[in-house]
Amino acid sequence: MVRYQIVLGVLGAITPLAASLPNGLGATPAMGYSSWNDCGSMRNNGPNGWCWDTEAHIQNVTEYFISSGLAKLGYVHINIDEGWLKGRDNRTGKMVEDFEKFPSGMKAMGDWIKKHDTYAGSGEKMHYGLYSCRGTVQCGRNNNYSAVGSYGHETADVDWMVAAGADYLKIDSCGATNYSHAGSFSQYAKYRDALNATGKKVWFSLCGWHHWYSPPDPSIGYTGGASLGNSWRIAGDGKTWPDLTQCMNTQAAVASFNGPGGWSDPDLLVGPEVYVGGQTDEQARAQFTMWSLFPANLLISQNVLAWSPYALETYSNEELVAINQDPLGSPAKRIVGGDLEFPCDGDGGGGGQIAEVHAAPCNSSNVWGRKLSGGNFALGFVNNAGSAAKITCDGNCFDALNISSSVVALKVRDLWAHADVATLTRPFTFTATVNGSGFAAAYKLAPSSL
Ligand code: GLA
Repeated sequence: MVRYQIVLGVLGAITPLAASLPNGLGATPAMGYSSWNDCGSMRNNGPNGWCWDTEAHIQNVTEYFISSGLAKLGYVHINIDEGWLKGRDNRTGKMVEDFEKFPSGMKAMGDWIKKHDTYAGSGEKMHYGLYSCRGTVQCGRNNNYSAVGSYGHETADVDWMVAAGADYLKIDSCGATNYSHAGSFSQYAKYRDALNATGKKVWFSLCGWHHWYSPPDPSIGYTGGASLGNSWRIAGDGKTWPDLTQCMNTQAAVASFNGPGGWSDPDLLVGPEVYVGGQTDEQARAQFTMWSLFPANLLISQNVLAWSPYALETYSNEELVAINQDPLGSPAKRIVGGDLEFPCDGDGGGGGQIAEVHAAPCNSSNVWGRKLSGGNFALGFVNNAGSAAKITCDGNCFDALNISSSVVALKVRDLWAHADVATLTRPFTFTATVNGSGFAAAYKLAPSSL
């Protein structure tokens, strides 16, 4: 009798799943860590490197997220990207982990992470993420890491990873047999349905970075990825500020498809210390500022154990985390400025990763805005020019926020200075002075009386 009821419960859960992911997750974007830009897929940094003993490194990272207070702020996902899977058992076809990197195996790794409270006495546990790929091989094959993909093993692999304790699953697209919009959706749907059939609450993170995610293409009836997962990558890997500038441009095109349950994903939060690439501390802070505003997943992908106090201060900005996690879940739109370029004005790009310098007039600034819960609003300003600039949200810009006519004044709070800096009266207009070379400022606007 008991067994009969359980079967019915599972079937009941499956029925609506053909077209959606009703796992109840993703009311706000995910926050935590990803190993990708920290460790890469290999033991990339020699026997003395920080990822050589990957299992121990991930344990140290988890402890750091807890002791630093990041987990208390909401950074609770510890996600292991490519590099844990060695191959398949010849006889059973089951996934076999890389015991050189994870001597205790992936189930033990997950158990270890998930036994930890996010902070003393919280009663909430840390989360554990795993990674695979919908193709026949994983992405790192280009870097001599030749792990197999999950193609043809979708349900078995999902079951394996969920049994290992994963409550966050990233599925990449390398080596895929089909990159068309319809083909990609139907392949990803297999993972979604397999996840739903487990009956477990698992965050489903799609990593496609192909044109079928973005920009919106009317000919394919673009609707974002919420029918498949809780988050979906919209652009290529963001390692440097020029990459991240492109990620922001793509986000502008797809933002309106976001909301509680499903979020476009402009990629991981990178800093100066990454496996490949790098950017300045200020650009890392600008990325965090804009990703908080969008809102997008806040997954820190850096060697946090070698962080500067500036970096910890960046990601610990409670006021911006609150904007990211605002319960209204209203996506920010780009109100002023078109697709950004970088570098502009002959600026070297804070690291000089790309040679091209856009000639004047370079499209160097944006204003983004968004409605928040409680009748509040947020504004974000980006400056990619070579030097500081004054950027204005004028009357038209404020009109785009649809502020009720009953609001007579707005108190402006600088979310980096942690100070109220102005009270605006109608007609509303606000100018921010923003440093150059990849810098962002953010403000919260609260209705106020005169
Ligand atoms: C792709 C993804 C990255 C990462 C790597 C792993 O490039 O976009 O986020 O998962 O694969 O090789």
